[in-house]
This record gives sequence, structure tokens and C-alpha cells, in this order.
Amino acid sequence: MKWFLLYFLAVGVVALELPPDFPKCKRSDPKLNDCMKTAIEGALKLMEKGLPEFKVEPIQPITVPSLTIGQGKGPVQVVQNYENFKIYNLPSAKVADLSSRLSDSEFKMNITFLFKEVYLASQYKLNGKILLLPIVGEGDCTIKLMNAKVPMEMVGRFFEKKGVKYAEISDIKVHLGGDKVEFDFKNLFNGDPRLGPEMNRILNENWKEIFDDVKYAYDEAFGAIFKNIVNLIVRKVPYDELLPIIILFLPKRPKKINSNLKTFSIIASFKKQETPNFLKCKRSDPKINDCLKPAVGRAIHIMAEGMPDFKIEPIQPIRVPSLKIEGSVTQSYEDFQIFNVPSAKITHLDSSITDDEFNLNLTVFLKDIHIAARYKLQGQILLLPIVGEGNCTTDLRNAKVSLALSGVPTEKTGRKNVEIRSLKVNLDPEKVEFDFENLFNGDTQLGPQMNRIMNENSREIFNDVRHGYEEALGAVFKNIANLIFKRIPYDELVPL
Ligand SMILES: *[C@@H]1O[C@H](CO)[C@@H](O)[C@H](O)[C@H]1NC(C)=O
Ligand SMILES: *[C@@H]1O[C@H](CO)[C@@H](O)[C@H](O)[C@H]1NC(C)=O
Ligand SMILES: *[C@@H]1O[C@H](CO)[C@@H](O)[C@H](O)[C@H]1NC(C)=O
Repeated sequence: MKWFLLYFLAVGVVALELPPDFPKCKRSDPKLNDCMKTAIEGALKLMEKGLPEFKVEPIQPITVPSLTIGQGKGPVQVVQNYENFKIYNLPSAKVADLSSRLSDSEFKMNITFLFKEVYLASQYKLNGKILLLPIVGEGDCTIKLMNAKVPMEMVGRFFEKKGVKYAEISDIKVHLGGDKVEFDFKNLFNGDPRLGPEMNRILNENWKEIFDDVKYAYDEAFGAIFKNIVNLIVRKVPYDELLPIIILFLPKRPKKINSNLKTFSIIASFKKQETPNFLKCKRSDPKINDCLKPAVGRAIHIMAEGMPDFKIEPIQPIRVPSLKIEGSVTQSYEDFQIFNVPSAKITHLDSSITDDEFNLNLTVFLKDIHIAARYKLQGQILLLPIVGEGNCTTDLRNAKVSLALSGVPTEKTGRKNVEIRSLKVNLDPEKVEFDFENLFNGDTQLGPQMNRIMNENSREIFNDVRHGYEEALGAVFKNIANLIFKRIPYDELVPL
């Protein structure tokens, strides 16, 4: 069985932005499949009129200049030649079922489409036998697939162009099926008014046998058509933009300290960018630490405003959507914001940066780390019960913050980038001030009383939860560092 098809011309890769109304889903969305379902239906609707900048022609109809379906092994002993083959009603497809594995390294998707009526219109040429009856003719024809259920299996691969990662569909399997197929071939037998309609009647009465015999060829042809359309879009939109990621941290339970960072996530998605305006230090410089001090200071300063090219959010404040710290009291925070990190003064810097290691120890001084969040507390503090929910602030005064970054320059796909494997934070504030609003359901006596007690014993209380804060900050900084380092070749970050 052979099929032949001429379709879109190959086009080079040019990075394009998706239209703003083109639906997108985040790769790490726990409900990614539900999101994809809606997104694909939405995308089909948008493509109805075409996407000229992507060279996607309107898909209502899809026009295939020429299509040949070879003869089957059974009743269809005829080569079907079609020209100007048009497929109607794809934009009204509903996604009945979808499963996917979309990650940094995998691109797989199974979709089952439902079409109420796929309508094919074309010019045909036939000369052979169907059901042992001779059939010959040329003219217009229509083929309708009623209530078509079309499962597709797509497997993609990734490729890089100018350092940017793109996806493309490498393999697609389509299985056309439906409740009924209706054929209407005009002008059979040179327009014979008796034989033509008779033949169409026979075709329609035996549609299942006929369709099954050549279905394989239709499946392949449709597969190629869909693959083309999908690739016209996905090959041109950087993968991280097509399916942005949410990086989700789930740090391990700290062993010694009785506080625990349960959930903590930071949203970060990025696309290809220019190397930022960081100061560069040479790794062969014997006084590299003197060079790094202002360079790191400047990098923190640059990051204060965010780096839109890297999709790094401003670090004034640093936002952590949700944070849970467990100790003698369970602290759940939402919209946890850390202010004033950019005003850090670097007091000490040590490094060991070579071809195969990247270690940086940094001590900074911060006059006031201001934290604002929504909290929920339940448990005991200093043996006193505490419960409440509302807004809170915590201020760490005159804090000494040490960071120990340990990374390894690793080579992937010919490019060496440093990968931060661990980032440890140590917080050492001189004084901590708590202000929890609305404790004990707003009790006007107990609430202020509790805040007073907490502040009088702030060091002890802070020590109980310090580890949770340190892990949260460590995870945030590690993420930010890797977002940057991943994108800047090692030799550009710290030249030889
Ligand atoms: C798609 O379906 C095939 C065949 O049933 C299966 O092997 C594969 O794991 C499925 N892929 C996804 C992403 O669900
Ligand atoms: C950084 O600090 C750690 C822990 O104190 C130490 O083991 C390491 O040697 C230090 N690294 C550098 C480059 O100073
Ligand atoms: C909590 O803080 C937010 C933002 O600062 C504010 O909009 C909200 O009204 C505050 N809630 C209460 C209960 O004070």
C-alpha cells in the first residue's frame, strides 16, 4: 500500500511568538492534560482562518494539492488519485481524551479527537475494480466521515537552533474511524446516468469493507497532514515559550532541626536572552575574589529589577507563593515576600573557581530583611497554645547572611555551563521582630500579649524555624543562580 502526498513546503526555523490569544499550558501544571484539551480546541479555532506569520494556511478547509491512495489488499483494487483534496470541519473538533508526557526531555501526547462530520471534497480519477466490479471515472467527489473518532499518538523530539530549544513531532500515528462513511463520486463511467448512481449505492452499502481496505493509507495521509500543521507551529516557537515550566521545589526534610519546609514553589519560566550586563572576572585572575566582590554586588543590583530576558522576576521583593514550616508550631504562609535583599553589602567573599569546580562563599550584611506574608499558625510556642490566621511581618535586623554555593561546570551538547548543586544559606540576625495580626481570632488581649512574648523570646523562636527559612532562601537563590548559569556558557560567565 502506498500513499503519496504533496503538502506544505519546508520552511526554515525562525523564532516566532505565539499570538497572544493562543492558549498555553504550563508543563508542570498538575492538571496539564485538562489544560491541553482546552488549549488544543482553542488553537484549532484560532487556526481556522490561518496564522500567516507561521505560514499556516486557513485550516477550514485544509487543501492538499495532490493525494494518491494506492490499492488495497481486499475489495479496493483501484488506485485513487485525488487533486485539490480539501478537508473540512477540523476546527470544530472536540478533544475527547488526552494523555501526555511533556517535560524537559520528553514530548509525547495521545489525543482522541471527535468530529461530528469530516467532509472531504476533491477531484478524483479512478480506474480499476472495487468489490470485483469495474469502476472508472473522473470528476468531483465528496466523502463524509460521520461521527469520526480519531485517536492520534504523537511522539516529539527536541532540536536546538542558535542555543534555543524547539520541539518537533517526529512520529504521528492516526487511526481514522467513524460511524459511517458516505461516498459520492460524480461522473462515474463517463456520466452514465444508470451505472454512476448504482455504483455509488454499492459503495455506500459496503462502505465499511471499502474503507477498512484503504484506511491505512488514509491514516498515513492524515498523519502526515497533522504532523505538518503541528510542526509549522511548534518548530517555530521556543519550547520554553510553547510550554513554559513552573519549577517546583520540594526540599527534603531537614534532619536535626525540628522545622520543616514542606511545600515551596517559585514560578519561573524563561526564554533565550542576551548575556546580561554582568561584570566578568577571569578565572585565571589571582585576585579573582577582589574582582568578584563588585561583580556579584552588581549582579544582585541588576536582578533587583528582574531580568525579563531571563524571565527572572524582580528580587525586590522575592516572592514565594507558599511556604510551610513545621516545628512545635505549624506555620503555613502564602504570598511570602522577602524585601531588601538587593541592599545586601558583601562583607566577605571566598571562591575556588577552576575548569572543573565552582565554589563561592559569600557573606553579606543586611540591615533589615523585611518579610510580609499571610500566615496560618497552629500549635504551641514556648508551651503556650497559639492559633491564628491573617497578615504578618517579620523583620530580621542586622543580619549576617552566609551563602555557600557549590557547583560543577558540566558539558552538555557541546556547551559548558555551571550547575549549582548545592546552595546553603545561614541566617544570623542580631534581632528578630514578629508582628502577627489577628491571633486568636482577633482577641484584643491575647493577640498583643502573644506578640509581646514572641518578641521577648525572638531568638529562641527564630532558632526553631531558622532552618525552614534557610532552606527556603537556599532554594530560591539556587533556582535564580541556575536560571542564569544555565543560560550563560561557563567561559563567558568566568572567562579563562
Ligand atoms: C500513547 O498510547 C500508546 C499506545 O497505547 C502508549 O504506549 C503510550 O504510552 C501512550 N502515551 C501517552 C503519553 O499516554
Ligand atoms: C566555603 O565554606 C565551606 C564551609 O564552611 C568550606 O568547606 C569551603 O572550603 C569554603 N569554600 C571556599 C571556596 O572558601
Ligand atoms: C493583609 O494585607 C493585605 C495586603 O497588604 C491587605 O490588602 C489586607 O487587607 C490585609 N488583611 C487584613 C485582614 O488586614
